[in-house]
Amino acid sequence: MNNKFQSIRGFNDIFYPESYKLQYIENIARQYFNLYNFKEIRTPLLEKTELFVRGIGTGTDIVEKEMYTFEDSNGESLSLRPEGTASIVRAYLEHSIDKQDPIQKWFYVGPMFRHERPQKGRFRQFYQAGCEVLGIADPFVDVEIIKLAQTIIDTLSVNGITIRINSIGCPNCRPQYTQALKSYLNTIKDKLCDDCKRRIDTNPLRVLDCKKHGCIAATSNAPKTIDYLCSDCLTHFNAVKSGLDSLKMDYLIDARLVRGLDYYSRTVFEFTTEYMGAQNAVLAGGRYDYLVELLGGAHTPAIGFAMGIERISELIHAPSIEGPDVFIIPLLEEAKQKALEIALRFREAGTICEIGYGEKTIKSMMRRADRLKSFAVAIIGKDELKEGYVTMKRLSDGHQEKVKDSDIVSAFQHIKKEASASSLPARSE
Ligand code: HAM
Repeated sequence: MNNKFQSIRGFNDIFYPESYKLQYIENIARQYFNLYNFKEIRTPLLEKTELFVRGIGTGTDIVEKEMYTFEDSNGESLSLRPEGTASIVRAYLEHSIDKQDPIQKWFYVGPMFRHERPQKGRFRQFYQAGCEVLGIADPFVDVEIIKLAQTIIDTLSVNGITIRINSIGCPNCRPQYTQALKSYLNTIKDKLCDDCKRRIDTNPLRVLDCKKHGCIAATSNAPKTIDYLCSDCLTHFNAVKSGLDSLKMDYLIDARLVRGLDYYSRTVFEFTTEYMGAQNAVLAGGRYDYLVELLGGAHTPAIGFAMGIERISELIHAPSIEGPDVFIIPLLEEAKQKALEIALRFREAGTICEIGYGEKTIKSMMRRADRLKSFAVAIIGKDELKEGYVTMKRLSDGHQEKVKDSDIVSAFQHIKKEASASSLPARSE
């Protein structure tokens, strides 16, 4: 280590090619959000702590232990956003968007912050891409949203994914369920971790998403939310299932799935992978029909999901960008102007190119062109400058030709086409 400054644990510098992979995932997500007619919203990274406490719930892991909270110089308690949904509802209400048009479809891509123990697939700053539909209760929206999530995951070729769904009811039927769950949990209290023991009274649903093996085993016979749904919730859940069935989607009904945030109601879902140990959810979401109300608005049903960009990145091979198409080598100071003009013409034609500044000899420039895995070099020496041409050399086989300045773009396209028509490797190996 040659620097006394280090980044904070769980906060990572992300270099190429990982950064390119994340960009690739985000681009695919954006592409599908746009296709489904979602509009982008960018909310602040910092919000009043109270928003998350109210929105996500006091008895949740996120609010109890994972928020980055501090007082600013005005003595106001602020927190780095641990997720996007609460901020979105805040923005929806703050700007009276609910009054102009209650139906909104928004997406977001950006960093979230949780003070969790860092491990594979779990960071303190991580990136999510998510979407939210506000103002619609129709179960077909649930189906559409789960289908959208699946399409993104499939397009990214994330293999080994299971879609889990459940319904956790509404304020009408949840109390009966919570009561039954509490009674059951009290019978197995001794087998639960300290957090879960405490939560039997404060937030019993959370016991079901405790990740400790002891708690998972002890609660294997816990009452199921779906056995306590009121008729409206049951009808809604059945409609979601038959919608998924009609699209021939594979999914599993997971009675233990309750999600770790308190705002959910009715449909909840997670996309889990078999390849990632404990951090196995790559995408998760559900309905939150009462959050807008809880934060001060009128009753507004809503649903959404967020995907963990880094977790997906661990599971896929993104196409990597190859080296530049052309590496331009000006052999003398006076050739730099022409190098720049040629580079601009290449770029206008969509050809990726780089100019070999910073290297002193042709040998070192050729070496750099090689190291960058360039397809070709365009050399500009004294003769080339005087007579209005460049020497273009394909690096994979050393094929070389003189190309008139005016023909440079088409000549490059020609030698590229020639290489792909033959069995030449696209780049020098
Ligand atoms: P969540 O389940 O807390 O839901 O997070 C969604 C996804 O973010 C997870 O499935 C996971 O892939 C990723 N994730 C969460 N924590 C970490 C971490 N520490 N490191 C890396 N990745 C992580 C929400 O955040 C809800 N706001 C989703 C939602 C939107 N529900 C309705 N609308």
